[in-house]
Amino acid sequence: MKKTLLLIGAILCTLPMLAQPKLKADNIDEVLKAMTLEEKALLSCGRGWGMQLGGITGSAQILVPGAAGTTNAIPRLGIPATALPDGPAGIRINPTREGTTQTYYGTGFPVGTAIASSWDVELVENMTKAMGNEVLEYGADVLLAPGMNLHRNPLCGRNFEYFSEDPVVTGKIAAAYVKGIQSNGVGVSIKHFAANSQELNRNENDAIVSTRALRELYLKGFEIAVKDADPWTVMSSYNKLNGEYTQQSHDLLQKILRDDWGFKGIVMTDWGNKEGTVKAVYAGNDLMMPGSDVEQKRIVEAVKNGQLSMDDLDRNVRRILQYIVKTPHFRNYKYSDKPNLKAHAQAARAAATESMVLLKNEGESLPLASGKKVALFGASSVDFVAGGTGSGNVNKAYVIGLNDGLEHAGYVLDPVLKDYYQKYVDFKRVEMSAGSGAGSVLLGARKVPEAPLSRNFIDARVAGNDVAVVVIGRNSGEGADRRVDDDFNLTAAESQLLNDVCNAFHLAGKKVVVVLNIGGVIETNSWKNLPDAILLAWQPGQEGGDAVADVLSGKVNPSGKLTMTFPNTYMDHPSSLNFPRGTEQRGGGNMWGMRGGAPQKVKNLDYTNYDEDIWVGYRWFNTQNKAVSYPFGFGLSYTTFEYSKPVVKATSDGFTASVVVKNTGKVAGKEVVEVYVSAPKGGLEKPSRELKAFAKTKLLKPGESQTLTFKVSAYELASFNSAANQWETAAGEYTVFFAKNANCKCSSAKFSIKNPATFAVSNAYVK
Ligand code: BGC
Repeated sequence: MKKTLLLIGAILCTLPMLAQPKLKADNIDEVLKAMTLEEKALLSCGRGWGMQLGGITGSAQILVPGAAGTTNAIPRLGIPATALPDGPAGIRINPTREGTTQTYYGTGFPVGTAIASSWDVELVENMTKAMGNEVLEYGADVLLAPGMNLHRNPLCGRNFEYFSEDPVVTGKIAAAYVKGIQSNGVGVSIKHFAANSQELNRNENDAIVSTRALRELYLKGFEIAVKDADPWTVMSSYNKLNGEYTQQSHDLLQKILRDDWGFKGIVMTDWGNKEGTVKAVYAGNDLMMPGSDVEQKRIVEAVKNGQLSMDDLDRNVRRILQYIVKTPHFRNYKYSDKPNLKAHAQAARAAATESMVLLKNEGESLPLASGKKVALFGASSVDFVAGGTGSGNVNKAYVIGLNDGLEHAGYVLDPVLKDYYQKYVDFKRVEMSAGSGAGSVLLGARKVPEAPLSRNFIDARVAGNDVAVVVIGRNSGEGADRRVDDDFNLTAAESQLLNDVCNAFHLAGKKVVVVLNIGGVIETNSWKNLPDAILLAWQPGQEGGDAVADVLSGKVNPSGKLTMTFPNTYMDHPSSLNFPRGTEQRGGGNMWGMRGGAPQKVKNLDYTNYDEDIWVGYRWFNTQNKAVSYPFGFGLSYTTFEYSKPVVKATSDGFTASVVVKNTGKVAGKEVVEVYVSAPKGGLEKPSRELKAFAKTKLLKPGESQTLTFKVSAYELASFNSAANQWETAAGEYTVFFAKNANCKCSSAKFSIKNPATFAVSNAYVK
């Protein structure tokens, strides 16, 4: 008996853990105190890409198959694992599972660039409410989204995931996105923080950016989203910023993100293990993703040998625990695995229609009455692109192509063309999947190239049809940037098709409509005079074909506007001078450089100088008076709008403004009003105007008006003075424009700021 008691006593002594607390929302410090160093290291590193949960607890469980990663569980302290699937165009998980016929499709929503083009924060929030419900109901905790890097250059392969070349549009759309997702009691990870503007050599590339361009452009969107929407997590990027990996930058993750902006959540790395884990922990990168045993060991060793203080590690682990107690897994939420996909498909369709941009509509060629006979040209009518490739690709149940969408809406498709394109695309897909052009799991299937059609064949399609619709499609995604030839510029086959169709149909007095099914900017200047109408449909998600038909038919009046400039030529963008265009864009190029194996060095691609500084997008084109094909903010409607004389009033902190918008046309429609500000001369050199606010009207009936009001603070008017390391709002007279696009000579009003204002920041990046 005595022996047994002694034995029990000994066990209790060697396992003090058995008596330890279980995690609750209000005992985080107690749990932290009870954690061993190894457990803290375990929690600081996750698991990912289908690897099993493991580590010192030995638990083996995959939470949501196909999710990009999970955090580690520590059952003895009641710390559950949490699941982190990708976005941003919907939840990305495996659609099928072994041992069941049930499916787990995510809804394919329109891509980031599309939803930003709606300029409608309410719409975005409603759409992501539906998306976040799928995160919750499929048993996940955080959606790795939204992607919100700036469109520094049109060729970035992931621009389709991102919102805009402008930080105010980016920040406000991102904030709405975050609010919608998080209203479900699940989180987001806004990404990729920061200056992750290219795919080529994305793991090692060093973005060399001035402090001013950083603060005003590349960080501004993140700042707005953090302050307005309180995201649960932020994802640090793969790249370096001014010589240091972002995930290891104390300046970025502590001084700017937390000290300057007040971020309260956790920072996780983008998916790759780098050397320098200890530096990342110190910098405030709380979670290493996907995380590895090697990284855990590094953390343990560093604390033991004094390289890393326990206080710094505790600070991160405390934040991770604060995150965990908010999650559905901690709440033990009983998810259904059966979100309402039908209702969400409707939300996707509505968002897609509100996001399309009407670029041209000569002679009121659109809308097209239902019942019309349509000659539908272009391989993309069948090989329709719902969204881009890579981690941003959603495993959706179906995609409605434009051919199907037009038929659903009552148009009669030319049967010869319909049959031809279906067979051509089917054949090409088989041919491409057998060859080296097949693509890969990550890069996704390549797009089917345009089909060559003879002029005789096209001529023969004119008589039996009322109108021609030509679809031009593009796809791109993670791991590769786009090219100028045959991507930004049209391919020879596309140019030929467009020319021949326009010639043939115009000869017979029939109209031609172009539908752009693209995720980023293409060249339009050389051919936009050919067709009668151009509808920019973006990559509109799984309901795309129906959504395009909604707009072509006039069921929905287009109200989207461009969130980036369409330049006349690629080289017109100053960033094109130093946007690396390598030849090793697929497979090579060290886009991974991660776990196992030393990173390969890619010559001349180790860094990118952001020499254009703050002159990105319309800031450059406007200030230089440089002609563009379509300006930032541009978009037409089937109706017309008039703005009243605006009222602008200086306040003690900036200005307030209002303008009355009236629908002066014949059909109902919505209008986006863009508010740009020109600052007084003197002081820092500034763009001729900068967007400071925007709003969209409700659906206005013909003759109906709505007053839109705006409030802009002195801080929002400030520019960053790097020499003084502070934001500065100059005194003097400001002009406020109420504009239909960045170029328009539109109604304006003035107000004055009497006293200059300055806003202090931490000393990040001050060398
Ligand atoms: C991408 C991230 C993504 C992560 C997890 C990375 O390669 O850059 O955007 O969230 O993988 O899939």
